[in-house]
Amino acid sequence: MTKAATDLAIETTGLVKTFGDTRAVDGVDLAVPAGTVYGVLGPNGAGKTTAVRILATLLRPDGGEARVFGYDVVRQANEVRSRVSLTGQYASVDEDLTGLENLVLLGRLVGHRKRPARARADDLLEAFGLTAAADRQVKKYSGGMRRRLDIAASILNTPQLLFLDEPTTGLDPRSRSQVWDIVRAVVAYGTTVLLTTQYLDEADRLASRIAVIDHGKVIAEGTPGALKSSIGAGTVHVRLRDPQRRAEASELLSRALNAPVLQESDPVALTIRVTGSDRGAAEHASRALADLATAGIVVDDFSLGQPSLDEVFLALTGPSEHAESAAPASSAQKETVA
Ligand SMILES: Nc1ncnc2c1ncn2[C@@H]1O[C@H](COP(=O)(O)OP(=O)(O)O)[C@@H](O)[C@H]1O
Ligand SMILES: [Mg+2]
Repeated sequence: MTKAATDLAIETTGLVKTFGDTRAVDGVDLAVPAGTVYGVLGPNGAGKTTAVRILATLLRPDGGEARVFGYDVVRQANEVRSRVSLTGQYASVDEDLTGLENLVLLGRLVGHRKRPARARADDLLEAFGLTAAADRQVKKYSGGMRRRLDIAASILNTPQLLFLDEPTTGLDPRSRSQVWDIVRAVVAYGTTVLLTTQYLDEADRLASRIAVIDHGKVIAEGTPGALKSSIGAGTVHVRLRDPQRRAEASELLSRALNAPVLQESDPVALTIRVTGSDRGAAEHASRALADLATAGIVVDDFSLGQPSLDEVFLALTGPSEHAESAAPASSAQKETVA
């Protein structure tokens, strides 16, 4: 094993898995640094779960290679299994048992003696905000509590690598943010997390790097910031005091920023997608503001933001297939990101 291989929690080359005619995973190369949250972002059916199941040794790949901490997932499956844990759509907790009973039972299954199993269960229930519900049957838990218990169950043994397969799908915003806190806590203990998600904001918040996958292929990879800037430096939003001056402001901004202005339905709002380097964008934006001031056009609100991951995804995959991502964008926006 080379030094480089051990610094990577996951390394795959040309990974393929087919189901009949479906190429669920279609030549995936991944390099996941140890000790980080790595996001795999993609819509339903993109191949996320299939990839995770291969990496967790639950499915054999049809082609390519996958290593976890340097161990081959096919030839050294036991080495891999002893280092990883998986939670997601199919969790192992028993609905009829209480949260505490589940964690103690699963703790015994992974090899803890009775007293340490109980102590670990109590610690995890506390850490995950489930102490008050410890003696309640899991079937009476809310979706968010259930998801937190699933994650607690998967880290009874503090795995080196934790797969979280869509851990927040279907959760309300408050439960989602509780799961995010837990993910951050898990990583702080040194566990590498591979997180699959359909939520762009989730990958953006948690992951240090993201692979965007679609139809079994990685269509983009990088830090959230790099992915966002790959489609443009940012978006300038301006709100004017006087709607009468919008046409004039629009012309000035378009000239200063050298980009078309999107006229929003709100009569005082203007949006401009800026291309080029980040620093250039900030400079151009401040010059544009100065031009508006010189012309006596009052600006009530101004912001320069990076494009959202939604816009990145739309730019990468095209608007036609993913209706939910495509919906918020006007046709004018599509042109600018194409
Ligand atoms: N066991 C299976 N048998 C047949 N097709 C499957 C099976 N598992 C997944 N697929 C197909 O493979 C593709 C990828 O699925 P999946 O990995 O579950 O995607 P995701 O987790 O990103 O939603 C989909 O087209 C899905 O229908
Ligand atoms: Mg899935």
